[in-house]
Amino acid sequence: MCGIVAYIGKKEAFPIVIKGLKRLEYRGYDSSGVALLSNDLRIYKKQGKVAELEAATKSSDISGTIGMGHTRWATHGVPNDENAHPHLSQSGDVSIIHNGIIENYATLKEGLSQRGYQFNSDTDTEVLVHLIEDVMENSNLSLADAVRASLKQVVGAYAIVILSKNHPEHLIAARKGSPLVVGIGKDRGEFFFASDATPIVEYTNKVVYLKDGEIAIVDNMEMIIKSIDNVVQVPYVQELELNLEQLEKGGYPHFMLKEIYEQPRSIFDSFRGRFDANEGIFHMRSLEEYSQKLEEIKRLILIGCGTSWHAGLVGEYLFEDFARLPVEVEYASEFRYRNPVLFADDLVVAISQSGETADTLAAMDLAKRKSASVFGVCNVVGSSIPRLSDAGAYTHAGPEIGVASTKAFTAQVTVLTLLALGMAKIRKTMSIDAISKVMKELEAIPAKIEQALKLNDEIIELAKKYQHVSNALYLGRGYNFPVALEGALKLKEISYIHAEGYPAAEMKHGPIALIDEEMPVIVIATNSEHYEKVVSNIQEVKARKGRVIAIISEGNNSLNSLVDHVIQVPETIECLSPLINTIPLQLLSYHIAVLRDCNVDQPRNLAKSVTVE
Ligand code: G6P
Repeated sequence: MCGIVAYIGKKEAFPIVIKGLKRLEYRGYDSSGVALLSNDLRIYKKQGKVAELEAATKSSDISGTIGMGHTRWATHGVPNDENAHPHLSQSGDVSIIHNGIIENYATLKEGLSQRGYQFNSDTDTEVLVHLIEDVMENSNLSLADAVRASLKQVVGAYAIVILSKNHPEHLIAARKGSPLVVGIGKDRGEFFFASDATPIVEYTNKVVYLKDGEIAIVDNMEMIIKSIDNVVQVPYVQELELNLEQLEKGGYPHFMLKEIYEQPRSIFDSFRGRFDANEGIFHMRSLEEYSQKLEEIKRLILIGCGTSWHAGLVGEYLFEDFARLPVEVEYASEFRYRNPVLFADDLVVAISQSGETADTLAAMDLAKRKSASVFGVCNVVGSSIPRLSDAGAYTHAGPEIGVASTKAFTAQVTVLTLLALGMAKIRKTMSIDAISKVMKELEAIPAKIEQALKLNDEIIELAKKYQHVSNALYLGRGYNFPVALEGALKLKEISYIHAEGYPAAEMKHGPIALIDEEMPVIVIATNSEHYEKVVSNIQEVKARKGRVIAIISEGNNSLNSLVDHVIQVPETIECLSPLINTIPLQLLSYHIAVLRDCNVDQPRNLAKSVTVE
């Protein structure tokens, strides 16, 4: 949700900033811009992708060792050159890039307009840069103090970087509610600022994750971090675990395909070293340190957005089956604005790939205020959600760059499986033998996914047949109902085909009216307790001339004459079947999107990390 990157040091800033913006483009890609500071302050902005900005600056002066850039996901104002960041103050002295939303921008704008400020964009951000200048002009405050004073007037979320023509030795950055990482360069006085560590990793592995309400001030080659109340903070310098290879496509045409193919590895990484299947024992710090709480809780509430919410739905089945606990699954965006009845013995599990989703963070905050405990399941190390959690477990899927989530989903389901099993052990709702059996089967999943990936060519043929449809229906029952939702979401997100996921039996209460000879119905019918029921649902679709693609277990030849296409996947136990059944659905949506010439990694209107409401 907007990406920001900035550099101050001895190197040329432009190449660093542009490369950084390309890495951050998953956060927004409707327009971008850079500001460069040497003798003067130059700003270049362009609607469209970062590559378009780069092309537009080919013959411009791009020199300067101080610079910042922004890639935008529009909130206030349409995507165009004017609304792209950086924005300039009225005098042209101060420039800003911003990720987040200034919620009280209308009130601030009114006051500034009355004091004669003119606005060149429709953004909330421009208000802030005028405000900073206004504070400077009406006080004796330094630039840094004026930024602090202005931020005190702001309601909302921000990660900002500020450069000033009249203070070329300064770079100021601040955060509240939107992420910001500082890379400490190898040379004295060299600093990198970015929404995440991906633009920084090739220059340094020493980073500081700014905390909410902190402001970083680079002044004459030194950096100091203060609270918004001007108290000096001691930075916690961390070492990055990220490596450059993880951020490249590695020969694949798209990040999404690379990430689909990474799943045998990423699922393995999600459980690696975390249990001993023969003994049925766990080696998970969160389970050990938090075991008393996990024993005492009376209810689980799983929250998330998008694909992470779907993982939560799979979690509902897992926790109910294994740990015999009441479970609710909530959209974070709904939960945060309800008045939920929560108790101290409730555990809220926040699920998130990015760890920065604004709604999930706000829902966690609400849960904590209402005395519940919060457990984070997150992929991005050091992000806000793990920091706000009382305890948690990382999914260890590695960086996910494709906007449509794939490997993060299967990693979330894997970690939720471990947690549900761990809680079953703590609460003695499953025998060690039964736990060990699931663990052993989990260990076999990466190899089975490897097998499922071999379906790729078959799925390409299927994609060719169905690439032109306008609607699709995905059906599943039990553990595979969330998989149907996730399959439909993937198709919608990247190929812009309207798709719905439904519990197979609910189809007859509505969607059945949509079925005709055109409508592909993708039914997850792998071996399960409900298999026969799902076959009856398939019959109902076929009786209305629907076209059925059935995902079935290997060796099942009984549906060949009933359905239009079968996709045979390796068999596993039902509770782990979402991990395998998701794979052909990811591949199907990927290939349909490629055939429709869609931008697979950066689908229109979407962003990977949604840091605004
Ligand atoms: C966005 C992304 C989705 C993701 C959702 C939740 O909509 O495009 O892929 O599932 O946010 O994000 P999170 O990082 O919290 O999992």
